[in-house]
Amino acid sequence: MTELARSRGERGELVLRRRDDGALELRVNGVFVMDDQETSSEELLASAALEAVRHPDRVLVGGLGLGYTVRALLADSRLGQVIVAEIEPDVVSWMRSGLVPSILDDPRVGVVVDDVRAVVTDLPDASVDAILLDVDNGPDFLVYNENSAIYSSGFLTTCRSKLRAGGVLTVWSSSASAALETAVGSVFGTCAVKPVPVELQGRPELYYVYQGSS
Ligand SMILES: C[S@@+](CC[C@H](N)C(=O)[O-])C[C@H]1O[C@@H](n2cnc3c(N)ncnc32)[C@H](O)[C@@H]1O
Repeated sequence: MTELARSRGERGELVLRRRDDGALELRVNGVFVMDDQETSSEELLASAALEAVRHPDRVLVGGLGLGYTVRALLADSRLGQVIVAEIEPDVVSWMRSGLVPSILDDPRVGVVVDDVRAVVTDLPDASVDAILLDVDNGPDFLVYNENSAIYSSGFLTTCRSKLRAGGVLTVWSSSASAALETAVGSVFGTCAVKPVPVELQGRPELYYVYQGSS
């Protein structure tokens, strides 16, 4: 294990490290957040949104992480602008410095270092085609307790108001959450649940993507 970077901020300690199996791993307060070896669910968060929207042009992503969701969006030439809300300044600076392979030099990407709740709230109504949320391990395994509000019907209603007609919200979760399915369903009418089989360091697991369309 090689530690590549460590920082301490308002919400605790962030560590970027290279595991012995070669994977790049991000941890927050000692908790595994993600690695670059199993990124299919982060990519599916993007492809589920791209498939559901007829003309995806302007999209907001909550949580830069290691950049896999944003990279999957940028592979679609229909995308004109991706706004990324990332709360940890060091996650952004590690990517800018090249410690993490960067997607920030793509002219379609703009990063706002702030809480995704504030960034979404500041958007004009009906101004984005999709909102993709992957800011935590899901409502039942929070890294940051303050993020529980992100999975509530109040914030999901705010998200809906920022979507253009035909727009879509997709939310990543590391576990099945009946409460999240109910909240998305109550705001959007229905909630599509997409389980994603993944292998985590040899262990089979299921991650989930929840989706509502306006
Ligand atoms: C699991 S990672 C995102 C992974 C990303 N989908 C990818 O493909 O690499 C979660 C990210 O969300 C950030 N984050 C956590 N809470 C946030 C919040 N309230 N607003 C914005 N970003 C947040 C974390 O710092 C972290 O970079």
